[in-house]
Amino acid sequence: MASMAVTIAGLELANPVMSASGTYGHGLEMRNFAGPSSLGAWVSKTVTRKPRPGNPLPRIAETEAGFLNSIGLENRGIDAYVRDVLPEMAAAHAVVLTNIGGESVEDFAELAARLDGERACHALEVNLSCPNVQGGKLPFSTSPTMAEAVIARVRAATQKPVFAKLSPNVSDIGEIARAVEAGGADGITAVNTLLGMRVDWRTRKPALNTIQGGYSGVGIKPVALRCAWTCVRAVKIPVIGCGGIACAEDVFEFLVVGCRAIQFGTASFTDPGRIGRLAAEMSALLDAHGIASVTDLIGTLHVPNTLAKVPGAPS
Ligand SMILES: Cc1cc2nc3c(=O)[nH]c(=O)nc-3n(C[C@H](O)[C@H](O)[C@H](O)COP(=O)(O)O)c2cc1C
Repeated sequence: MASMAVTIAGLELANPVMSASGTYGHGLEMRNFAGPSSLGAWVSKTVTRKPRPGNPLPRIAETEAGFLNSIGLENRGIDAYVRDVLPEMAAAHAVVLTNIGGESVEDFAELAARLDGERACHALEVNLSCPNVQGGKLPFSTSPTMAEAVIARVRAATQKPVFAKLSPNVSDIGEIARAVEAGGADGITAVNTLLGMRVDWRTRKPALNTIQGGYSGVGIKPVALRCAWTCVRAVKIPVIGCGGIACAEDVFEFLVVGCRAIQFGTASFTDPGRIGRLAAEMSALLDAHGIASVTDLIGTLHVPNTLAKVPGAPS
């Protein structure tokens, strides 16, 4: 059997499969479909300082390939997360990445400091797609300066590995990747959802209450793969690929472009058990191709030298 173990930013994972934030419950409610032991790591839904009710319905809309959501970071807040979720994750021996969100740099720093002493939380994933309420409501992820500032404050507030989760809704994701690396990130998750919308032309109404929402699922895989590859080329820290992954072959595309792990999101809504079977599917596929370890695939993309440079990267 091919070896599935990977190490990323000092975290030793049984396999490279993580749940994507917000797509696999707030705790262990999905355990009957896929328990934490089948995953390399479990990533929490974004946790904020205070509870958030999320956006009004409708906040999910199907599309031809994947769906749009505008959940609005609904969660019960950091106190409930630390009290109720972390103990059950510790009891399940899960490797936990806590995804944190905030409206200001101070929010992120406070959450990081609060989680620093929590042994059941192994790393932080910083959701930079949250709007900066003090800075014109643009998401932190859209500006290298804002993204670096958030990561630097989180870095200073915790000893745990820090992953910066980037947005694809920027003109040069490599520039943002370099900024979060400069801020002290130990790794990058690429990517969050793409901005999209859908309307009912008969009623002339938008499908989502918020009009625009985050597009995810199989339709975004080519964009996510391009973003992940660009990040891999732009920085030295490891990259977790995310976006449109639905099967073992999809995972391998992300590993070949250089990702050390992946996250599985929207595909869980059509088959909630698939994420738990993914590592076994990957292992069988590696065996069929005579590849001894999943790590043998990482960063093996053949590209002509002339195309290897990322646009905008310092030479
Ligand atoms: C219903 C839903 C809720 C999500 N909630 C969060 C969230 O709370 N925090 C976050 O960083 N990303 C969130 N995401 C984005 C996913 O983690 C992931 O980055 C994105 O969906 C792309 O991966 P996928 O195509 O495999 O779903 C959410 C996605 C969906 C579909």
